[in-house]
Amino acid sequence: MQKLAAGNWKMNGSGAALQELLALVEAHPAPACEMLICPPATLIASAAGMTARGPLKIGGQDCHAKASGAHTGDISAAMLKDAGATYVILGHSERRTDHGETSDQVKAKAEAALAAGLTAVVCIGETEGQRDAGTTLSVCGAQLHGSLPQGASAANTVVAYEPVWAIGTGRTPTIAQIAEVHAFLRAELVKALGEDGQGVRILYGGSVKPSNAAEIFAVPHVDGALVGGASLKASDFGAIVAAL
Ligand code: G3P
Repeated sequence: MQKLAAGNWKMNGSGAALQELLALVEAHPAPACEMLICPPATLIASAAGMTARGPLKIGGQDCHAKASGAHTGDISAAMLKDAGATYVILGHSERRTDHGETSDQVKAKAEAALAAGLTAVVCIGETEGQRDAGTTLSVCGAQLHGSLPQGASAANTVVAYEPVWAIGTGRTPTIAQIAEVHAFLRAELVKALGEDGQGVRILYGGSVKPSNAAEIFAVPHVDGALVGGASLKASDFGAIVAAL
C-alpha cells in the first residue's frame, strides 16, 4: 500500500503561503509516499492550479452532506472537486468539538464525498479524559463504525487516528499506545469491510514532527500521518514525507 503524508493547514495560510507548496514539490518531485495538503477552502483552487502537474494532491477540510442548496457558508463535496481537490478531511476533532459534529453527520458527509469522487479522510480519536478512563478503544471503535461511509473501500477512504489530547500540544502517545490503537482499528476495518479493510490507510495524527516521524511510521498499521502545525512549513513537512 502507498503511504500517505497529509497536511492539514486548518485556518492558516494566505495566498503567500502557497509558495510553501512550490517549495515542497521542488524538494520532493518524486516522493515514495503520496503527498496531500489540505489548505483552507479559499486557497484550494489556486493550490490545485499551481500543483496540477506535480505529485502533490490538494484536499478540503470539511464539506456539507448535501450536493447543493440553501446552506449559507457551506461548501459541497462537488464544489471541492470542481476546485481541484481530490481528498477531504471529515470529522476532525476540531469540527466535532467546535461545531458539534456527530459520527452520523460525519458519515453523511463522507458519503457525499464519495459520491462526488473524493477520497474521505475520516478522523477519530479519544479525549484525554477518555484515555484516562480506559475507554480509548471503545470510543475509537464507536467513532469508526459510526463515521465510516456506506461504500467505503481502500480506494476511497482513509482513517486518521488523532488523539484529541495530542493535537497541537507537542504530546504524543507512547509507541505502544499508537500500536495498540492502530492494530485495533485494522481489525475493526476488516470486520466492517472484509479483506478490503486490510488496504485502508490508517494515519496517525497529533504532534507529528520531523523528530518523531520515523519512530511513529515504523509502528505496524501506521500508514502515514495527518500533520497540522508541521505541515505549514515546506521544510518540516518535507522531512516528514522523507521519513515515510
Ligand atoms: O489534523 C492534524 C492535526 O489535528 C494534528 O495537528 O498540529 O498536532 O500536528 P498537530
